[in-house]
Amino acid sequence: MRSEMENDILKVLVTEEEIKARIAEMGDALYEKFQGKDPLFLSVLKGSFVFMADLVRACQLKSDVEFIAVSSYENATVSSGRVKINHDIQQDITGRHLIIVEDILDSGNTLAFLRDYFKAKGAASITIVTLLDKPSRRTKAVTADLAGFVVPDEFVVGYGLDYCQQYRNMPYIGVLKPEVYSK
Ligand code: XMP
Ligand code: MG
Repeated sequence: MRSEMENDILKVLVTEEEIKARIAEMGDALYEKFQGKDPLFLSVLKGSFVFMADLVRACQLKSDVEFIAVSSYENATVSSGRVKINHDIQQDITGRHLIIVEDILDSGNTLAFLRDYFKAKGAASITIVTLLDKPSRRTKAVTADLAGFVVPDEFVVGYGLDYCQQYRNMPYIGVLKPEVYSK
């Protein structure tokens, strides 16, 4: 039987199986790069919490985890590009190899801000890992060191990504039916 959420999905962009296979590859790539370096995985909340949980288990490195919550100051007409920290990390990261884990790299505002913020705090290195990359929308000069999938310029939900805080628990990435937005 189709779930309540599935009825709202127009199409699936990335399946559960594709996500799983790609994360295994990403975990291996990070393992190769960070062996012996004790990196810190930093999840950007809320969107990356599902990806983070799967990624750290796909990468059996000695490492630890942190969480940061951010939001952008935006209004209907102007995207200021300013980012606000709602919850900061709880430790000194001086000299640490940081792996920033994001759900989607869109305009680049969030990751440009976080990269500069942690560089200023003295990280030894900063690696940007994103599940999804939407390069067509980029306004800041940011590229991911490792990206799971390139997606077209469509609003996507699932696997951590939300619309009005819902659909985060869908196991795949999809696009909503237009009528969902007018509810
Ligand atoms: P920026 O523009 O800073 O965007 O690169 C990053 C944040 O914007 C959110 N975002 C989305 N969320 N579906 C979502 O559910 C999308 O298609 C989408 N595009 C951007 C997301 O929170 C991301 O961290
Ligand atoms: Mg996010």
